Amino acid sequence: MKILVTGGTGYIGSHTVVELQNKGYDVIIADNLSNSHIDVVDSIEKITGKRPEFIKLDFSETENTYKFFESNKDIAAIIHFAAYKAVGESVEKPLKYYRNNLFSLINILNCMKEFNIRNIVFSSSCTVYGQPDKLPVSENSPIKEAFSPYGNTKQIAEEIIRDTTISTKNINSIALRYFNPIGAHETALIGELPLGVPNNLMPFITQTAIGKREFLRVFGNDYNTPDGTCIRDYIHVVDLAQAHCIAVDRMLNNKGKSNFEIFNLGTGKGYSVLEVIKSFEKVSGVKLKYKIVERRPGDVEKVWANADYANNELGWKAKKSLDEMTLSAWNWEKAYNKKNNL
Ligand code: WQD
Repeated sequence: MKILVTGGTGYIGSHTVVELQNKGYDVIIADNLSNSHIDVVDSIEKITGKRPEFIKLDFSETENTYKFFESNKDIAAIIHFAAYKAVGESVEKPLKYYRNNLFSLINILNCMKEFNIRNIVFSSSCTVYGQPDKLPVSENSPIKEAFSPYGNTKQIAEEIIRDTTISTKNINSIALRYFNPIGAHETALIGELPLGVPNNLMPFITQTAIGKREFLRVFGNDYNTPDGTCIRDYIHVVDLAQAHCIAVDRMLNNKGKSNFEIFNLGTGKGYSVLEVIKSFEKVSGVKLKYKIVERRPGDVEKVWANADYANNELGWKAKKSLDEMTLSAWNWEKAYNKKNNL
């Protein structure tokens, strides 16, 4: 069974390819390498002993997308990661995000209809919930107005997929709403590789600890939370990757309850920024340099998942602890810098 992983050299994509190959699937990665490196394919081969097929492709290009699917008719399922995902950049360049993220999806769905590819897993996000009125958030919690064009592309994409599965009966889809993926594979051969200055908390922590950044700015400690800093549901990227394999199995074995299903992928537990820093200091032995600064516009105060539905329906539960997440992120940062003599 061949699985197409779009954006498969990216952070979550590469970890998912490892888990798919470990479960015996054949994988073809299609990625435009706009935010990832081709070396990731070598690392995946080192980890699994199997080299995935790779093609450089931008799915927002209609003709090239069609040609790709025309010559790859044996795809049993698609896991669609390929999208721009920097919340801040999406505010500055909304049209770049709407064009790339939505044109890519529409091209893929058109080709699924044309070439009778029946299954798609979509990489969605907890950002669709905005600042929830009630916590924890479950799949039927209200969708709030998106805080950014990035978050809006995820909301619109889910609606496009839903409407397509209503009109085209033979397409099955599962949207996976991630909370905050952090950490890296235990081999430290793959991990989060932000190009430029990281937006996200975990890579900024590890880059500060290794000396690439002077200090971490903690965006506000005057929130209505126990220690005043924002709370998020951090989930280990390998736990997240394994959920994607289960979602593919579910569709290939026609176990879905409908042809458009949604699952929250979180641990069900929230941690504050200061708690993440404390965990990192404990596992790394590094005293982290940080300063409390003003709030970051667009941040929600607190969000964490009710993970019961995924636990019960998919038989999947996040297993790794916060300390395992922060330690794996630190091991990856050290290995990456050593390998690149940084
Ligand atoms: C986490 C917390 C910041 C950086 C991300 C993705 C989004 C979605 C959800 C997948 C916040 C604080 C951060 C820093 C800080 N994932 N922080 N200093 O904003 O929850 O969103 O996860 O789709 O795509 O962007 O994650 O890591 O940026 O922030 O204090 O230098 O850490 O204020 O409270 P966020 P994040």
